[in-house]
Amino acid sequence: MRYLLALDQGTTSSRAIAFDTQGRVAALAQQEFAQHFPQPGWVEHDATEIWRTQLAVAQECIKKLPGALQGSARAATQIVAIGITNQRETTVLWDRATGRPVAPAIVWQDRRTTARCEALRRAGKAALIQRKTGLVLDAYFSATKLEWLLDRVPGARARAEAGELAFGTVDSWLVWQLTGGRVHATDPSNAARTLLMNIHTLDWDDELLRLFHIPRALLPRIVPSSGVLAETDASLLGAAIPIAGMAGDQQAATFGQACFAPGMAKNTYGTGCFMLMNTGARPVASRNQLLSTVGWQGPEQADAPRTAYCLEGSVFMAGATVQWLRDGLQIIQSAAEVEALAASVPDTGDVFLVPAFTGLGAPDWDGRARGTLVGLTRGSTRAHIARAALEAIALQSADMFGAMSRDAGLPLTELRVDGGASRNDLLMQLQADLLGVPVVRPQVTETTALGAAYLAGLAVGVWSGGDAIAAQWAVDRRFAPRLPEHARLARIARWREAVARSRGWARE
Ligand code: G3P
Repeated sequence: MRYLLALDQGTTSSRAIAFDTQGRVAALAQQEFAQHFPQPGWVEHDATEIWRTQLAVAQECIKKLPGALQGSARAATQIVAIGITNQRETTVLWDRATGRPVAPAIVWQDRRTTARCEALRRAGKAALIQRKTGLVLDAYFSATKLEWLLDRVPGARARAEAGELAFGTVDSWLVWQLTGGRVHATDPSNAARTLLMNIHTLDWDDELLRLFHIPRALLPRIVPSSGVLAETDASLLGAAIPIAGMAGDQQAATFGQACFAPGMAKNTYGTGCFMLMNTGARPVASRNQLLSTVGWQGPEQADAPRTAYCLEGSVFMAGATVQWLRDGLQIIQSAAEVEALAASVPDTGDVFLVPAFTGLGAPDWDGRARGTLVGLTRGSTRAHIARAALEAIALQSADMFGAMSRDAGLPLTELRVDGGASRNDLLMQLQADLLGVPVVRPQVTETTALGAAYLAGLAVGVWSGGDAIAAQWAVDRRFAPRLPEHARLARIARWREAVARSRGWARE
């Protein structure tokens, strides 16, 4: 048998999934790892733990591969290529000589550089940044996180300038480790999230490097998202395996959902919610506070443009809202309980939860917004709060969908969905009701990992192109909207009132 191994390094867990050449899951392993919150608004990961858990799940997944070689030392020889996909923006700074991080990784959710972004905005830099990077000036992205590390870690700036340190998002960090420090590379979909790459030229931009005080010596090489980049160190997985695909997790999911034609869109319900729409071979500048970003850079092919761009709406808290119900508020014991609890009441009783725990992303972009629960009465119960949490996920996505339709200048006709919470039928029905268009769930919802496998498989000839991939995509269930249009608009208007109340709350 031949398999593609996807390494899916997410915000809360490291996963490895092997796919067969039909795009079906053959084996899977997963490990959660620690989240560190050293101060309000700060979120850190230990990059060493990221690597340790990622390697462990890759090894475990290979052991589980079905077939004659199951559990044998030769099992890894069945893997024809590896695709890497990852939590984006999270910033790792490491020592080139030892391969060890010089500081905790600053996670995409971390808000410590909000004031720096505000100062840059006051200095009039937001338009330049949006023009070159397609991004909104926000602490979400890597540049101000990296600048913070260079300024605060003793000796880091001098060592960076001397070429002793390396910067990378998690894709680069994993490639470095998988190749025993031989390769320092990233792909345009990840580089597009740093605020340092020009999305029109797909190259690091000197003006941006100067603005954020980033020495060029720190940066990885930018290589295509689909293409053989290197082989893994043979001692790690039991064979030297080509690394042939690499993309940020949301772009990989868009690829795994076969959103290859302009206008096709997907929403992934993970820690956050990320909606991406393919806009074709050129970036579309958003007029509604969305991001323009690189989808992927594929291999040269006759039937498709090499680089696909996307519009993206990013919501910071989706599944993490349900985790908060479980761990913070402790009104459920497992995330799976939320569906039954929310379904036990017919509506939220006009309660709204705005989960701005780490500020608001698209389309509001307010780093100082904080979580808000409004509309409580003596009759409010944990069921109303659970339902309000699910509605908040769907309402935030509806905001993004509206902004996306306006930017695209055409009504979007359906939304493909994936990620853990897409299995929640109540949430998917609420989503269809609040969008006013059908929500379509595919049979394989592991589309992030699948997208990475496809990118790798394309590079080594397992699939011939987009058509072969699109032919494997199949519907599991289609949720049709049931809410009358006037009720849908009224619900969204009420939600916007709640959002307004969450804004500008944090002082620091
Ligand atoms: O931009 C952050 C995103 O890539 C994180 O994705 O799946 O780890 O929540 P996820």
